[in-house]
Amino acid sequence: MASISIENLSAHVGETVTLHAWLTDKSGKGKIQFLKLRDGSGFVQATVFKADVPEDVFDLAKRLTQEQAVTVTGEVRADERAPGGVELSVRNVSPISENHGEYPITPKEHGIEFLMDHRHVWLRHRRPWAIMRVRDSVQRAIVDFFHGEGFIRFDAPFFTPNAAEGTTELFEIDLFGEDKAYLSQTGQLHAEAGAFAFGKVYTFGPTFRAEKSKTRRHLLEFWMVEPEVVPSNHAENMNLQERMVSFIVRRVLDECRVELDLLGRDVSKLAGAAEGNYPRVTYTEALDIVRQHIENHDLPPNVQADVQPVEWGDDLGAPHETILGHHFDRPVIIEKYPAAIKAFYMQPDPEDPRVALCDDMIAPDGYGEIIGGSERIHDYDLLKARIEHEGLPLEAFEWYLDLRRTGSMPHAGYGMGLERVIAWITGIDHIREAIPFPRMLTRMRP
Ligand code: 4AD
Ligand code: MG
Repeated sequence: MASISIENLSAHVGETVTLHAWLTDKSGKGKIQFLKLRDGSGFVQATVFKADVPEDVFDLAKRLTQEQAVTVTGEVRADERAPGGVELSVRNVSPISENHGEYPITPKEHGIEFLMDHRHVWLRHRRPWAIMRVRDSVQRAIVDFFHGEGFIRFDAPFFTPNAAEGTTELFEIDLFGEDKAYLSQTGQLHAEAGAFAFGKVYTFGPTFRAEKSKTRRHLLEFWMVEPEVVPSNHAENMNLQERMVSFIVRRVLDECRVELDLLGRDVSKLAGAAEGNYPRVTYTEALDIVRQHIENHDLPPNVQADVQPVEWGDDLGAPHETILGHHFDRPVIIEKYPAAIKAFYMQPDPEDPRVALCDDMIAPDGYGEIIGGSERIHDYDLLKARIEHEGLPLEAFEWYLDLRRTGSMPHAGYGMGLERVIAWITGIDHIREAIPFPRMLTRMRP
């Protein structure tokens, strides 16, 4: 008999099927045993009645231990109260292997550090199962979205010769004592080369930032998707961001109801994000919104009462982003930040060169910045002057300047942090659970 996966059981009501599964939990007494099973595709309860099975099968069911691998044969029965709508009436159970020692994650409550120390097996449990499936859904949504918009996927290298987002965040690699390289903190500069070759490209892969900040929004290694479009401009760039994020949210709401339910996510809070029409405010307007909330003592619960307003020219901090996220019922786009606090490659606003044609998208509910993007400087002389002004090594950027030496055009792009988006959509409070194996200052294992 071919084995069936749990997610497909509901198509086999009334049939006797075989599953290969693991025992997550067990209860029962006397003449009945409830086996909670998982097989990766889902979770199901299997009931063993003493009267229905040979005695040795019932005894064996009683002796199974947590996470033991088993083959189970049983009849699929519809049960409205069961999470997947079905249950199994067991006819036979046999172990596939014996367990060695105690399984560490018992059904009692464990602290997060303990669970993270056991991440390699914690991944088997319901909560990580739900989050990782949302991650998969988001990743596929991204690929499908860009394919549908005529982009090609274009892979940037992970070893890069130079900084793009500021030198302090770079992990340095020693190249046999002869030279240095860095782990990529963005694929953008190489994506720009791709965009001049293919028009519309996106990179999608791991990104590395040597940030010592121990916050719930920062990883040392995270995944970023970075589209780049030639020709394009600041306004079109923001439109693309909104189309992409609303597409992703709609897709997850469509595909992952079971997962979001299991996580206790209030999906009504994602309705605005799914719809689109994201508000757009300038950095200068955003400072006013923040100031008003502080003056009126109208602060979200996770912002300290002594939060200070932002002076024009300073960057927004996490509490300010939280206030802005709280002010709107869907992601908000903050545009035109002071050029001085942004990267060298951003196009200055022709109407006010103190600000750049850039934007950040801020998620609601304290999840902070999920996207950073801009129109790029396309003028050769201006870009060269900006590189020199920032004290960056010109020779390392010669290849990047080549993109403006020949066939330059206005263009734009952005980067979206995958784990920040997953954390927001799933409603979890720390980014470390949005990636299979998080890498942080305080966590390199397993
Ligand atoms: O705003 P950032 O630094 O933008 C860039 O790197 C641009 N070169 C992107 C581009 O225009 N192609 O980073 C983009 C996004 C942030 O908005 C955030 O979502 C995420 O990357 N991010 C992080 N996510 C997790 N951990 C970190 N340490 C992150 N740093 C940035
Ligand atoms: Mg940013």
